[in-house]
Amino acid sequence: MTAQTVRVELAGDGGSDRSYDITVGQGILASVGTLLADAGCRRAVAIADAAVVSSHAEKVVTSLQAAGIETLPIEVASGESSKAAGEAARIWGALAEAAVDRKTHVVAIGGGVVGDLAGFVAATYVRGLAVWQIPTTLVAQVDSAIGGKTGINLPAGKNLVGCFWQPRGVVSDIESLATLPLRELRSGLAEVVKYGMIRDEPFFRWLETHVDEITAATPTAVHHIILTSSRHKAEVVSQDEHETTGLRAILNYGHTFAHAFESATGYGRFLHGEAVSLGMAAAARLACRLGRIDAETAERQDRLLAALGLPIDFANVASSLSTDELLAIMRRDKKAISGQLRFVLPTRLGHVELVDGIDPAAVVDVLAAKA
Ligand SMILES: NC(=O)c1ccc[n+]([C@@H]2O[C@H](COP(=O)([O-])OP(=O)(O)OC[C@H]3O[C@@H](n4cnc5c(N)ncnc54)[C@H](O)[C@@H]3O)[C@@H](O)[C@H]2O)c1
Ligand SMILES: [Zn+2]
Repeated sequence: MTAQTVRVELAGDGGSDRSYDITVGQGILASVGTLLADAGCRRAVAIADAAVVSSHAEKVVTSLQAAGIETLPIEVASGESSKAAGEAARIWGALAEAAVDRKTHVVAIGGGVVGDLAGFVAATYVRGLAVWQIPTTLVAQVDSAIGGKTGINLPAGKNLVGCFWQPRGVVSDIESLATLPLRELRSGLAEVVKYGMIRDEPFFRWLETHVDEITAATPTAVHHIILTSSRHKAEVVSQDEHETTGLRAILNYGHTFAHAFESATGYGRFLHGEAVSLGMAAAARLACRLGRIDAETAERQDRLLAALGLPIDFANVASSLSTDELLAIMRRDKKAISGQLRFVLPTRLGHVELVDGIDPAAVVDVLAAKA
């Protein structure tokens, strides 16, 4: 399968073009060295998730060295707890000790955790090093590695510290997903269904008719999914890089509910994509309750999510949690304005709108499965 690219078009910054390519292919980690050498890189720091060091990151490091790039490997412990100030400080220290200069490039190899952490370290060390994202989870390949959001968590909340720092390029090798646990793969599929719901009805229909290939993770299906999702994320980011026009907010479809489910369960019960699946199921029901879509549309979304092995029974989840707490979290959502409830809701398959001032009673009814 030949590698294909998706361009993320970005407005120039003081005359420099910040646009970059996402390359999607099979067995392309060995090409990373040439890619960076062609971009003028002579020294690199390869920051990798411990879980992918021997399986994937070593291939990247070997290819960098083969291209004449002096490379410092840094390993990061797997898991969300690495997205923390202490870990960023440890890596800043390692960069200082290695006398890393402004021309050094950072290469992030792993899922969203390493991508966000390494991106943040790259953005902040000596006021900014070039960073390349080499995502190895489906979540990272279809979402987090694209668009330049970087950050770390604080005890007070997730992603509270961070900045926009666009990568120089993204390399998504579908082969790296071969080692990914099934549950993590499914989690990524929730964000894939999201793209169909928010802006691509034909893609939604393609997903519906290719469930067997997708769950079997055939290279052709996975390649199509990553390429299409990358194109959607790239287009949205190009049009609203810093989330100022409201367009980028459509990427948060299902996420207001999802964040509430994740937060109320202490982030320990659901993977992010599982929470997004529950959140999209709830958002579609809310859209029904408000007369924006018919029940059949919500049911179609439910059927696809369930066929892909994702959870949809949000009412059962909500019944074990405090509705008041869920509402309070949703009111504090980063996208909420002065405590008003705000949701991204579908109007039909393939189209969503940002809706303000939603009646809390409607949300309570939906959570209680009364709608
Ligand atoms: N920056 C953004 O725009 C953005 C968007 C969405 C999510 N995120 C962030 O991304 C993070 C979630 O990303 P994630 O789901 O990739 O989680 P993750 O990085 O924790 O990876 C999930 C698990 O898979 C393991 N892993 C990674 N690649 C593997 C591989 N190829 N084979 C086997 N195991 C592998 C990891 O060690 C980890 O245990 C969250 O911190 C979230 O806030 C950021
Ligand atoms: Zn998400």
